[in-house]
Amino acid sequence: SPAGRVTLTVNGTRRTVTVDNRTSLLDLLREHFGLTGSKKGCNAGACGACTVLVDGQRVNSCLTLAVRLEGAEVTTIEGLADGDRLHPLQQAFIDQDAFQCGYCTPGQIMSGVGCIEEGHTGSPEEIREWMSGNICRCGCYVKIVRAVEQTAG
Ligand code: FES
Repeated sequence: SPAGRVTLTVNGTRRTVTVDNRTSLLDLLREHFGLTGSKKGCNAGACGACTVLVDGQRVNSCLTLAVRLEGAEVTTIEGLADGDRLHPLQQAFIDQDAFQCGYCTPGQIMSGVGCIEEGHTGSPEEIREWMSGNICRCGCYVKIVRAVEQTAG
């Protein structure tokens, strides 16, 4: 199938690639760039494990076509820490013990960052609603909401 050339910025680094038109952003990140922090759970937009930020907005990277991202700024879990200093929400996940198996955690954290930046943190219920696209099969929701609350202040 046809391929396209795209230039985008991932975690502050500009990259140009030629990809099959059907390649998802998730596969671009994991298979072309070796950024395996974003997880492939359902690969169908239902679990949120693949959540990243594109131009500051939360997206399911499994549903996003890479060739559509000309000029976009993508932030993944690998780009969140500042050197050795964790992002406050990463620290809050540790403080609140907000994971068990950890598989959904990168997506939860990226979604939580989006949730905070969007200002949807007025109450635990609001956080829960705006984080509802991110499934946790271990059932850590109460602690995940606490971690978002801790970070939002
Ligand atoms: Fe993208 Fe599940 S892997 S939403």
